[in-house]
Amino acid sequence: MNKAKRAAVIAGNWKMNKTPSEAKALIEEMKPLVKDAGCDVVLCVPFIDIPAAVEAAKGSNIKIGAENVHFKASGAYTGEVSADMLTEAGVEYVVIGHSERRTYFGETDQTVNLRTLAALNAGLKAIVCVGETLEQRELGYTETLLKFQTKMALTNVTAEQLKNVIIAYEPVWAIGTGVTATAEQADEGNGFVRAAVAEVYGEDAAQALTVQYGGSMNAGNAEELLAKENVDGGLIGGASLKAKDFAAIVAAASK
Ligand code: 13P
Repeated sequence: MNKAKRAAVIAGNWKMNKTPSEAKALIEEMKPLVKDAGCDVVLCVPFIDIPAAVEAAKGSNIKIGAENVHFKASGAYTGEVSADMLTEAGVEYVVIGHSERRTYFGETDQTVNLRTLAALNAGLKAIVCVGETLEQRELGYTETLLKFQTKMALTNVTAEQLKNVIIAYEPVWAIGTGVTATAEQADEGNGFVRAAVAEVYGEDAAQALTVQYGGSMNAGNAEELLAKENVDGGLIGGASLKAKDFAAIVAAASK
């Protein structure tokens, strides 16, 4: 019964969608719809959209996030973007270790950890993604996997830095598939994440941690998912590309 201790955070993850001008238009449409939110509202957008998004969100309650960050401060890393570049551009959050990055771009638990440390050291809030595949779930490894991914991602993160960490439980089989985890599965997965954090940082720190659910969360199922004890918010893909749908999820989290 510690939900009141935690910040509810609804974050959109636009993935590779929206040009800068489309980003501006979507944020302008969202602003009035989410202005009375009783939760934190974040939009994580493609790197190239960041200046337009930060400008469009100015003076509103919408915070802008990135979808990745490199772990080195600078240097010969063609195509990469550093944490300092993001903070100077007005970014406050960053998604790290999304399953699409793990699957398509060779992201490992070790690079997820390095990126998390780089983000936190630069003062960004890290939204760290963990989640099992369907095969791992069917083999009975969900708890083991979620705890391992969580602990690996947080290696060398201090208790103080943990206050700037959000963990998003995103079952891989529920992402972009229209198959949502049941509210019970989401609650259980988020609970495994929280238990892993408790094992390392203690129960108080774990109770204060915001754990989101992500995977086909939408206007229709958000309220049931967010009512669960361990579900403190959502990381929203497809439904964050439509102002009304995203606003309905924000409204559900504000109840
Ligand atoms: P969908 O909401 O499109 O399933 O995506 C979830 C997700 O991957 C958010 O990061």
